[in-house]
Amino acid sequence: MSSPGPIAPALLAWFRQNARALPFRQDPTPYHIWVSEIMLQQTRVAAALEHYRRFMAALPDIPALAACPDEELFKLWEGLGYYSRARNLKKAATLICSEYGGRLPASYEELQKLPGIGEYTAGAIASIAFGLPAPAVDGNVLRVFARLYNDSGNIADPATKRLFTRRVTEQQPKDAPGPFNEALMELGALVCLPGGAPLCGDCPLAGQCLAKAAGTQLELPVKTPPKPRRVQPVTVLVVRRENRCLLQQRPDTGLLAGLWQPFLFEEALDESEALARLKALGLAVNGAEAPRPLKAAKHIFSHVEWRMAGWEVTAAGDAPAGCVWATAEEAAGRYALPGAFKAYRPLLTGGR
Ligand code: ADE
Repeated sequence: MSSPGPIAPALLAWFRQNARALPFRQDPTPYHIWVSEIMLQQTRVAAALEHYRRFMAALPDIPALAACPDEELFKLWEGLGYYSRARNLKKAATLICSEYGGRLPASYEELQKLPGIGEYTAGAIASIAFGLPAPAVDGNVLRVFARLYNDSGNIADPATKRLFTRRVTEQQPKDAPGPFNEALMELGALVCLPGGAPLCGDCPLAGQCLAKAAGTQLELPVKTPPKPRRVQPVTVLVVRRENRCLLQQRPDTGLLAGLWQPFLFEEALDESEALARLKALGLAVNGAEAPRPLKAAKHIFSHVEWRMAGWEVTAAGDAPAGCVWATAEEAAGRYALPGAFKAYRPLLTGGR
């Protein structure tokens, strides 16, 4: 197969001109790179920036992260999703303090021994923060390389990923491994866009791109589609008692483990069934006020899609096990309410 030739000179020149001014680029300490890369794994840069600023203001170093109470950590992570990332950050910070003297190890292999740090994140930290020659191949980089080499290998296949990673390593200049990796991610994020939208006219590698030459860039990368998501009906009950709402803590394993939610049942219930369930839990629903239907909402997780609907009701009684009666201030400031409940959040927090 033909090769696009060396890409580093044109790519690095483009990156110097076009790199976004991101806070972790202005002060690329290992801790900053680590946290930013974990945040950016499932979240777009624009959506993660505000969280990144808040996180660093609250937890400026690894010992602060290791010592952060879970509730506070989840509150800082609120809205980013995939909360196991936050759990792993804290676990790794604790290990770094006990085993590595409070500093991230400057080694691609050692980094991968830490919870939540896989090949990609280890490569990003090793190259960007420590200047070590390691590849950092995420979905953006796979797309860029599928097009650059006009390679229709399935990028969900580990053998294809290994081949593309070898090509990245061959192309990576020894004197600028970090800027090279970041430039590839940036090119994927800003120019070599997915779907039908690559901006080939703006691409510094257009003259070398084998897919561009063959006219196949819209067909690449090839990826087996993910399995269809299971659809889960969810009945949400916004339960009010005077100036408080019922919040329920999720079980400590599984989806959104340990986080807070409006009272809900992960099944479809009609109004009378839902009210009967509340009654059985010791909550006396005010019969003088008709339950008010909530707007329907959905939330897509990686493997399941929640279809939510339900009612807002007024009730009396003690909070059932695992629940609290929270004021709007507490719902906004103390309990981590995942983004899945965005549609109902204003009802719980009074819009805070
Ligand atoms: N996506 C993930 N990490 C990134 C980075 N360092 N720069 C740009 N996009 C990214």
